[in-house]
Amino acid sequence: MEKLQIAPFTSLLTHSRFFLTLRSHEGAYHSLILFRLTPESNASVEDDKAGEGPQIKPMYQQIYVMESSCPHLGADLSHADIEEYETSVVAVCPWHRYDFDLRTGKSETGLRACTYSVEVKADPVDGIDKVYVETPAGGSGWRLVELRPVSEEFADPPPIKAPPLLPVTASPAVAVIDEPVIPINNPPTTLMQWAVLILNTPDPTLKVRRTREAVNQFRTGKLTAIGHKASNAPRPPDVPPREEFFTKNTVDPAKMKNRKNRAVMLHALANIEQWAIDLAWDIIARFGPSHPTIPPAFFSDFTKMALDESKHFTLLTSRLSAISPSTPYGTMPVHASLWESASVTSHSLRSRLAIIHLVHEARGLDVNPGTIERFRKAGDMESVKVMEVIHADEVTHVTSGHRWFTWVCEQEGNVDPVQAFREEVRRGWRGDVKGPFNVEDREKAGMTRAFYEGLKGEMGVIPSSAGAALDLKPLKDTVADIPVEYEIAK
Ligand code: FES
Repeated sequence: MEKLQIAPFTSLLTHSRFFLTLRSHEGAYHSLILFRLTPESNASVEDDKAGEGPQIKPMYQQIYVMESSCPHLGADLSHADIEEYETSVVAVCPWHRYDFDLRTGKSETGLRACTYSVEVKADPVDGIDKVYVETPAGGSGWRLVELRPVSEEFADPPPIKAPPLLPVTASPAVAVIDEPVIPINNPPTTLMQWAVLILNTPDPTLKVRRTREAVNQFRTGKLTAIGHKASNAPRPPDVPPREEFFTKNTVDPAKMKNRKNRAVMLHALANIEQWAIDLAWDIIARFGPSHPTIPPAFFSDFTKMALDESKHFTLLTSRLSAISPSTPYGTMPVHASLWESASVTSHSLRSRLAIIHLVHEARGLDVNPGTIERFRKAGDMESVKVMEVIHADEVTHVTSGHRWFTWVCEQEGNVDPVQAFREEVRRGWRGDVKGPFNVEDREKAGMTRAFYEGLKGEMGVIPSSAGAALDLKPLKDTVADIPVEYEIAK
């Protein structure tokens, strides 16, 4: 049985649950949850007992790995309750409370979850005890492409209070909330309804809070319906609205162009993140109903993305307020170029994944290291930390883009993903896809060089296969259309 090295055992002591993404050489994905049931405080267990040969430390025996989607209707099991009995330990799904034995995957209902055996042993290279997990059946050359703790809620020991950066920003320009997070009239009862509500929420702070609420409800089983198969699933807006005070700013564009200072960079990045929150909800609301067979893992991935983008927005606007209190978020020019790509790709999930997640977001992987370096040179280590968090998350977003792009290609009769991607870029992108490329992080996310080298978009030159493009004019009339530079420092 093949086993894949995951991490040193000690690095799993920070949390009791971890989310793992594995990708095979052939491009298949599996999302798994690792449950570590031994409290960190009990981790110092005796070593071998004399004369009895090597002992498996009890703390090493209480690690379990199972597929992250419930075999019933696909709920995310990352927030499953764990119940321990005399002879077994089970994960209880948050949606319909079916329980699954963590060792065998069996449930009294007759369903069976996929579980994977775990072993902790010394790495022959450095002698450090590492965790190894059985690889999924089918596929070869499995590698770990993501390992992240399942939220602070599952930190072990109990989480320290969230750092001051994490709470939603109190920037003067965005702290206008008089609407409740959960609407009093007609509160959303499906993920689709939440998605459309959040898209239609102009205030960015409220958008962030609603995103947190929706994802929390979805993960903990308070929201048990996705709603994408319903005939009356709500439609997303063509263009998510923006607050008037935010879109009508008065900064002189000529001055803007030359002020590549930290505040400008943070503001520009926060603006991109605000659009990115909308993009994550839009892909759910726009393409869920047109793809009724899409697995629930799709919704888990993109709700996670929405939550990440909300976190990024909060981190960036908090930094902006800290270093430049006179220019809180909403006081500088913004642009909507990301939504233009959303508009161009609104007719096709394949196109959306290609252009937004595998071109725009992959480009983020290329430029982030340079941006981090600029903050470092300026001595702004807090912003460096923020950007490092963002960068690590964005590798996982490109991974999700690659995962679902590959899935769509499979559904279309095993179309070659590389060829399909290049075709989408040719039709939905204008000009060269420019380097220099962050080859290493792109590769981590599944984007081998064959995807992007020598790639050129011919949008506008070749006839478009797109449906009616969305009308961005109302937005453009109010949003300052100014390119804000945040490219790699020369
Ligand atoms: S019990 Fe898990 S989705 Fe129903």
